[in-house]
Amino acid sequence: MTEEALQLPLAFLGANLPESPPGSLNRENNGRANKLDSQDRAFHDWYRFVLSYPPHLVRDYLEDFGLNSTHTVLDPFCGTGTTLVESRLNGIKAVGLEANPLAHFASSVKLDWEVDPDELEERSQDIAHLAVQNLSEQGIEDNQPFEGKTPDRVLKALNSEAAGLILTDSISSLPLHKTLVLLDSLNNHRDERYYRHARLALANALVYRISNLHFGPEVGVRNPKSDAPVVASWMSEIRKMVSDLRLVQGTTYPYAAVHLADARGIGRFVQPASVDAVITSPPYPNEKDYTRTTRLESVLLGFVNTKAELRELKRGLIRSNTRGVYKGDDDDQWVAQHLEIQRIAEDIEMRRIELGKTSGFERMYARLTKLYFGGMARHLADMRPTLRPGAQLAYVVGDQASYLRIMIRTGQLLGDIAQALGYEVVRIDLFRTRLATATREQLREEVVVLRWNGGSACYPCRQKDTAIRSVSYGSSKT
Ligand SMILES: C[S@@+](CC[C@H](N)C(=O)[O-])C[C@H]1O[C@@H](n2cnc3c(N)ncnc32)[C@H](O)[C@@H]1O
Repeated sequence: MTEEALQLPLAFLGANLPESPPGSLNRENNGRANKLDSQDRAFHDWYRFVLSYPPHLVRDYLEDFGLNSTHTVLDPFCGTGTTLVESRLNGIKAVGLEANPLAHFASSVKLDWEVDPDELEERSQDIAHLAVQNLSEQGIEDNQPFEGKTPDRVLKALNSEAAGLILTDSISSLPLHKTLVLLDSLNNHRDERYYRHARLALANALVYRISNLHFGPEVGVRNPKSDAPVVASWMSEIRKMVSDLRLVQGTTYPYAAVHLADARGIGRFVQPASVDAVITSPPYPNEKDYTRTTRLESVLLGFVNTKAELRELKRGLIRSNTRGVYKGDDDDQWVAQHLEIQRIAEDIEMRRIELGKTSGFERMYARLTKLYFGGMARHLADMRPTLRPGAQLAYVVGDQASYLRIMIRTGQLLGDIAQALGYEVVRIDLFRTRLATATREQLREEVVVLRWNGGSACYPCRQKDTAIRSVSYGSSKT
């Protein structure tokens, strides 16, 4: 707990934050809001989280904020890099932070357009040839389902600790063997110029073609397949990259960088007063575990090798699921005096006791809610020195009501916390809705639009300032 955190117990301002009426940025059509438009596939499709926000949402806010090549956009929770890639494609400088090494890797490769596409294709074909030859010597054809009994004798496998980290049956033994053979070929003929692209192509092929993973939207395992083409699937991902890289050859694009870092410690990575806009989707308290979503490819590509490494990774994340809460976590102190968050946590706990629920997850959920909002408060406080006065921010977050049916209005609460930290809440746009399975209610995914008007008096904020700060609303978009 930092000294500043102790100075900053957030009081609930109880403001009715402005929600924009239906307008150009309100996305009433969930179909479009959820989809990657076909013209938006380039670079974005190299690897992306299911249900990440689409590039057209980023474009809308780049335009709404009036950004151009003189500006810099920050995404402090950049995930697979949608904001960064889209900003760069639109000629705007971009900086990202991401604490999950696999997602950080994906973002950084998606921004690396210096690779020669012809050479990437040729080198990959050589490696593919070697891997296919190797498999064929073992009596295994990559592109034809294996007939007869799997030759257990020759099959490569993960060591027991690594195997214990992946979801059971997330990859069948023969596709796993083929993947490990391909990885051997890649490592044995490693060429630094293409290695990272080749590995990201494999990550994407693994998730969508080789494994038994299924996204609904949570990651799970369905219909394990006994075999799958691996080298061919990888080459098809490589060809996708090659054709995208050809599109940008000969054109200069602005600087983009992505740091493997915690969004609650931005100051060490981003220059003071250098950011003109933030477009981001942080986690929200919905029990989603981003380390689980990326687990198979994280383990196979060596980003997570042991339980200890996995625990360390989780410690660097905003607390958004109960499996990632640790003894000694203290972000909740940032919202110790935020009445609404305290009330929600109490309601959750009372409902749990009423229903006699006693599992570890159920007992942790009230605490998780406080840790989540405390972590976001810490992030918003920490980010202030990096923002230029007048910086505009868009935070995409979802309401939550599935567990014990206590409604958590994430966007409203985040706006309220931001306001207590000296940000102006400009409006809250509706992005899309999704059906909560427990309550059959439509939950809102919203974009909380903020402005940082400067004000060094508010850094570090004293409690008195936050409590008395008046609310100043911008005009709602129509
Ligand atoms: C909703 S996802 C972002 C998706 C992103 N918009 C995209 O295009 O893929 C939230 C991301 O925040 C990351 N994250 C969680 N806690 C973090 C922290 N403290 N610092 C940086 N990143 C964090 C997660 O690993 C996850 O990738």
